[in-house]
Amino acid sequence: MKILVTGGAGFIGSAVVRQAVARGHAVVNLDALTYAANLENVASVADSPLYAFEHVDIRDRAALDRVLADHRPDAILHLAAESHVDRSIDGPGAFIETNVTGTYNLLEAARAYWTAQGRPDAFRFHHISTDEVFGSLGETGQFTEDTPYDPRSPYSASKAASDHLVRAWHETYGLPVVLTNCSNNYGPFHFPEKLVPVVILKALAGQPIPVYGDGGNVRDWLYVEDHADALLTVLERGEIGRSYNIGGENEARNIDLVRTICAHLDDLRPEGAPHDRLIAFVTDRPGHDRRYAIDPTRIRTELGWRPSVTVEQGLRLTVEWYLANEDWWRPLLDRQGVGQRLGTA
Ligand SMILES: NC(=O)c1ccc[n+]([C@@H]2O[C@H](COP(=O)([O-])OP(=O)(O)OC[C@H]3O[C@@H](n4cnc5c(N)ncnc54)[C@H](O)[C@@H]3O)[C@@H](O)[C@H]2O)c1
Repeated sequence: MKILVTGGAGFIGSAVVRQAVARGHAVVNLDALTYAANLENVASVADSPLYAFEHVDIRDRAALDRVLADHRPDAILHLAAESHVDRSIDGPGAFIETNVTGTYNLLEAARAYWTAQGRPDAFRFHHISTDEVFGSLGETGQFTEDTPYDPRSPYSASKAASDHLVRAWHETYGLPVVLTNCSNNYGPFHFPEKLVPVVILKALAGQPIPVYGDGGNVRDWLYVEDHADALLTVLERGEIGRSYNIGGENEARNIDLVRTICAHLDDLRPEGAPHDRLIAFVTDRPGHDRRYAIDPTRIRTELGWRPSVTVEQGLRLTVEWYLANEDWWRPLLDRQGVGQRLGTA
């Protein structure tokens, strides 16, 4: 296949680009290169004849039409988004522009391109979304694909809006779409504003490790390479018009996740041990969802997909990667907003 990946210079998109090229797909990486992007993430495939890059903003409809006409992809994997909840609290406008209007532009460009091709059934518009659209769970229960949407942050509301647009373009125009809603990712190339890299890098620097609220918020943690594998599985075998929840089968409280990372660091960098002495509880995020949990039955039973690593294994790999790749993360600490407390409203 020739796959157009939007947001392929970001954390998850770059994992998809690397895996797709490794599987022999041709990939066009379309990315606006915002603060969260890094072309180093795809350096390992940059010289491949299967890889091309387009520096394009999904808010630019004319540029999207040009890219589709030039490259003629068989599928679009849409990951480009503003993705940080704390930034959405401080500046929701960018989230509406990219996640809602940008997705609308991409749907319209895809519809025009697909129609001009004679509306092939084999075409796919795969929209990548989050479990955060489902809102916040109590102590029990899990999100299924039928859970009603109940987004509570500007980020999750903008992603929910984009999901609705994608479904509407399928129902109204017949565009062959699939959707996935995924839990929290972690792993190599994770931008150092998200919890896992923040913990690793603060601990390595001997600085306080900020934990929001009481640390009791629960997330279902998924290793990013497993997510990329799941996305390619859904792209190849998912049913048109269907959505799939993707989870890591690894629920953990934030505080336990942070302690696990500290324990790995104690082992790998004993001179800083015990790293958990650096844990510092800070004021909670406004509207902080308490618990997310994914029921993965559909993707497991219909597509035979399961995550390949436990959170223990994945965190070990991640800590090892950050220890070995300071050249990658050190320059990112100077990017706007990194290391600052954002989203306190
Ligand atoms: N990180 C997670 O845990 C998680 C979980 C579930 C779903 N998702 C979804 O997966 C997708 C990727 O998330 P991520 O964590 O890799 O995000 P990221 O912030 O690391 O990367 C986003 C990429 O999109 C690009 N981008 C942003 N605005 C753009 C625009 N207007 N035009 C073109 N490119 C633009 C950025 O330059 C960046 O390369 C997002 O849609 C996100 O909502 C993320």
